[in-house]
Amino acid sequence: MAVDTVSMDKIVSLCRRRGFVFPSSEIYGGLGSTYDYGHYGVLLKNNIKARWFEAMILERDDIVALDSAVILHPRVWEASGHVEGFTDPLVDCRTCKLRFRADKLEDSQCGRKPSKHPGETPECDLTEPRQFNLMFETTVGPVQEEGAKAYLRPETAQGIFINFKNVLQIARRRPPFGIAQIGKSFRNEITPGNFLFRVREFEQMEMEYFVPPAESERWYRYWIDERLNWYLRYGLRRSRLRVREHGPEERSHYSQGTSDIEYLYPIGWSELEGVANRGDFDLTRHTEFSTTKLEYVGPDGERYVPHVIEPAVSLERIIVAMLVDAYDEEVVGERERTVLRFHPEVAPVTAAILPLIAKDEGLVSKARSLYEELRKRQSVEYDDNGAIGRRYRRQDEIGTPWAFTIDEQTLSDDTVTVRDRDSLAQERLPIGGVRRWLDDALERDWKTPKGD
Ligand code: GAP
Repeated sequence: MAVDTVSMDKIVSLCRRRGFVFPSSEIYGGLGSTYDYGHYGVLLKNNIKARWFEAMILERDDIVALDSAVILHPRVWEASGHVEGFTDPLVDCRTCKLRFRADKLEDSQCGRKPSKHPGETPECDLTEPRQFNLMFETTVGPVQEEGAKAYLRPETAQGIFINFKNVLQIARRRPPFGIAQIGKSFRNEITPGNFLFRVREFEQMEMEYFVPPAESERWYRYWIDERLNWYLRYGLRRSRLRVREHGPEERSHYSQGTSDIEYLYPIGWSELEGVANRGDFDLTRHTEFSTTKLEYVGPDGERYVPHVIEPAVSLERIIVAMLVDAYDEEVVGERERTVLRFHPEVAPVTAAILPLIAKDEGLVSKARSLYEELRKRQSVEYDDNGAIGRRYRRQDEIGTPWAFTIDEQTLSDDTVTVRDRDSLAQERLPIGGVRRWLDDALERDWKTPKGD
């Protein structure tokens, strides 16, 4: 039976146990909502980034890559509206000295009576709401003076807008075309939490798609579909995904239309990715603030400011969704196993190579040479530590789709056993054909056995 819903606690505990994610600065008592990625977490992240990069850039002719700086000219954030408007309303409680988001009081707990919300008890003494900017400030240069104030970027998007002219000229593009980038963003979130879901430092994957103004609605719908299909392609269940269109009152200052692709996280339906129709807001504002004209001029002299469609997501939100979707527990032969049913192209390790007996030189030598052959192209792991059942369970918990076992029979007929993580089916195949078998297996369509 597939596990239908898993708690965030189980996900956190598996991530820690298997070294995907650690609380950051742990030996100093930790730093709220900041995490470090261990070996399997890094492999998982790299795979997700690679799949996004393939779909957004390598498989298309109309999108190019960019890697802009984290610290940009401070005027960028004035033009974008972040200095003025990237704020949350906060209240302080003079009694318990805690700070809360004024618009989320019903989701917060009173510091003295955690069963109550702030403002609910007679002792609560809340200040009037004040706007608090979410950008992290820093100083460029050795002197802490006003002129040198800068910010860590709260989104990667602005680095794309300010390079619009460079890309237009050098990559010789004409709308519709896109610029995509992956990089760290920083926000001093006031109510972070829920593991990686809302953190202060995260890796965004954003793409700005520049289109003729009259085509913006069509491309907005197109990108909602494209991005939804990407999640389905990499195995998320359809029943756990939905598109929610924002009402006008909910939209950001720049938006002419926004839809969230939501996932059913353990905390309920929440934003996984946002797709926004930003109109000409960004290019117009940067033209105004920088005095550099950001527009498209066609060969026959037509000129216009393109409109922008933006799909934006963080790796962190994808990782939580993929972990939740993949997590499963089942009883096999009276033993419980925990398994991460990741899509094979996302799984941190594609295959494990397991010599049945660690001390048998013949088996070890065959296993090592298979491992050396496969590791040139795939993320594979050699494991000769412990009983075979324990090794399988270890691989199940990190989501390795296939395990190749080298046993006595290998020595006589050069065949190995391949075990499938999901079905637990085993088949024998020639050791010389493993590389090809693995390539073919990765090409096959994969669907989670957990259903739709
Ligand atoms: N450029 C537009 C933009 O940044 P956003 O809705 O503020 O829009 C885009 O963020 C995406 O970044 C979100 O859909 C979410 O996936 C991710 N994200 C935003 N804040 C985050 C946080 N504090 N922790 C993790 N991911 C976050």
